[in-house]
Amino acid sequence: MKVLSLLALTSIANIVSAQNSTASLPSLNSTLANNGTRRVRYDTGTYGPEVEEVHYFYDQWPIGLAVSSTGRIFTCYTRGSYAYTLGEVVNTTAERAYPSQELNTPPSGLYSTINGIQFGSNDPNYFISVQALFVTPDDTLWVLDTGRPTINASEAPSMPYAVPGGPKLVSINLSNDSISRTYTFPPDVHFPDSYMNDLRFDMRENVTESGGGIAYIVDSSNEGRTGFIMINLGTGESWRHLTQHPSTLRGYADVPSYQGIPFYYRSLGMPVGYQQEGLDGAELSQYGDVMYYSPLTSNYLYSIETSYLRDSPSNGSLATIRAFNNVKNLGQRGGDANGFSGDSLGNVYMLMPEQNAIYIYNSTTLETVPYVRDPRILWPDSANAGFDGYLYFTINQLPYQADWNYGVDRREYPGLILRSRMPDGASKNLLLGSGGSGSGNATSG
Ligand SMILES: *[C@@H]1O[C@H](CO)[C@@H](O)[C@H](O)[C@H]1NC(C)=O
Ligand SMILES: *[C@@H]1O[C@H](CO)[C@@H](O)[C@H](O)[C@H]1NC(C)=O
Ligand SMILES: *[C@@H]1O[C@H](CO)[C@@H](O)[C@H](O)[C@H]1NC(C)=O
Ligand SMILES: *[C@@H]1O[C@H](CO)[C@@H](O)[C@H](O)[C@H]1NC(C)=O
Ligand SMILES: *[C@@H]1O[C@H](CO)[C@@H](O)[C@H](O)[C@H]1NC(C)=O
Ligand SMILES: *[C@@H]1O[C@H](CO)[C@@H](O)[C@H](O)[C@H]1NC(C)=O
Ligand SMILES: *[C@@H]1O[C@H](CO)[C@@H](O)[C@H](O)[C@H]1NC(C)=O
Ligand SMILES: *[C@@H]1O[C@H](CO)[C@@H](O)[C@H](O)[C@H]1NC(C)=O
Ligand SMILES: *[C@@H]1O[C@H](CO)[C@@H](O)[C@H](O)[C@H]1NC(C)=O
Ligand SMILES: *[C@@H]1O[C@H](CO)[C@@H](O)[C@H](O)[C@H]1NC(C)=O
Ligand SMILES: *[C@@H]1O[C@H](CO)[C@@H](O)[C@H](O)[C@H]1NC(C)=O
Repeated sequence: MKVLSLLALTSIANIVSAQNSTASLPSLNSTLANNGTRRVRYDTGTYGPEVEEVHYFYDQWPIGLAVSSTGRIFTCYTRGSYAYTLGEVVNTTAERAYPSQELNTPPSGLYSTINGIQFGSNDPNYFISVQALFVTPDDTLWVLDTGRPTINASEAPSMPYAVPGGPKLVSINLSNDSISRTYTFPPDVHFPDSYMNDLRFDMRENVTESGGGIAYIVDSSNEGRTGFIMINLGTGESWRHLTQHPSTLRGYADVPSYQGIPFYYRSLGMPVGYQQEGLDGAELSQYGDVMYYSPLTSNYLYSIETSYLRDSPSNGSLATIRAFNNVKNLGQRGGDANGFSGDSLGNVYMLMPEQNAIYIYNSTTLETVPYVRDPRILWPDSANAGFDGYLYFTINQLPYQADWNYGVDRREYPGLILRSRMPDGASKNLLLGSGGSGSGNATSG
């Protein structure tokens, strides 16, 4: 192209400057620095707001966390042989069983063996293996128990099938630390090989007829029957969507790199393979109308309008097919992502274990932008936007755990809770709150 009209030049300049204004890059610390007499350029591994160390784990490796309106920090640990699976931080170096050691100790054990086959506990009244936590704006703590403990974690680990009753969602009123409700699942919603990995809520009265709000839960099943599980929190009814939809399945033969080292999955007694986990990160848009999500082992970000997820297939409708047909592929985002979080401005945070970073998907510019990067971010697992304007996230060095390294545990305590300030004065999204107390029963779906 030889000649550009002045008009064309002006429009291009407008576009460029518009793009400039949308990128948050100029406000970030550069990840590049120079050193030595020749001022050789190198990568500092760092950009974005300051990363603060909030808590150190010395006894158990954390998975999920949630921070309450008063700054109480709750953590969970999949187990295993750990003494408890749900905890509360008591000071910078210690946690304790929450709400009590008793509720973390199923009287009949974590699993049973029938004809040589192991099954997870079916006990709805005790915590078995808690994977994820969430605090809704009304300061209710929601506890997601997979009902599938790891057996023999240090030798030849295995994970038993779930039995109805064991996998559950439990709500705890933080004003008196007592369980309000327990939701369990029928076997055609939570399969024996399901694995509930994370959860989000829309508590507004108008999202369901019963007015009690809705829970969206991701099923990351390593066995491959992935998808979303919804619970109508007023009635206890639950249902699935996007079961084995390609957007929820693990990526094909994914080989990520951590700290510059290509990663293959090396489990005792198994040939070298690939990470098998599917749908993992999920977050609602600011107004709850869109769900953003992705499998653990994929470069791609997907979305679906939540109305399709709320449409219960029990209506005998075309709900299943409609949901399948309305998934959007939002394109690549620059790496595999673990858990997601969101904030009051609609930022969708994505934890990026390959980059030791957290990225943000901006639904206005349709681009992924950098948020924070730090060499201490050795496998960011779960993040939680606090009421105080900080993004809290757990670090657990997962790629070095025994289960992924032929039984050799290469992790080093302490595990961490880190935090960094969210951009532009963002805080926890309170728009999806209210409703709250609901009218439902503590019931199975
Ligand atoms: C875009 O930002 C860069 C870096 O701040 C600046 O040098 C450049 O002039 C900007 N371009 C436009 C069109 O505003
Ligand atoms: C996304 O980009 C737009 C345009 O630059 C900006 O106004 C907005 O603050 C960014 N963040 C979110 C959450 O939309
Ligand atoms: C900068 O260079 C000096 C001298 O070569 C070296 O000791 C130091 O570790 C370097 N710092 C970084 C951050 O690379
Ligand atoms: C840049 O990074 C340094 C070191 O991590 C930190 O102290 C500083 O606050 C950061 N500055 C900004 C503007 O984020
Ligand atoms: C933290 O709490 C633990 C358990 O209660 C206690 O043993 C330890 O001394 C406390 N540490 C600090 C620094 O307060
Ligand atoms: C644990 O693994 C060892 C070694 O494979 C095996 O001998 C033992 O039976 C296993 N224990 C259980 C409870 O599965
Ligand atoms: C906690 O408060 C609820 C009402 O919100 C009440 O039903 C329950 O009995 C209380 N539990 C305890 C242990 O005080
Ligand atoms: C619920 O009401 C809010 C206004 O309070 C509205 O913005 C939203 O679209 C409604 N949601 C549904 C699912 O009807
Ligand atoms: C399915 O049933 C629910 C509850 O009865 C209702 O709110 C929803 O609109 C129905 N969906 C369809 C597609 O009929
Ligand atoms: C929690 O319990 C307190 C009383 O202990 C009650 O006032 C409050 O409404 C309860 N919160 C919810 C969300 O039910
Ligand atoms: C609560 O349970 C009672 C008794 O089982 C039942 O009649 C009622 O319909 C249930 N309410 C809701 C909202 O599910």
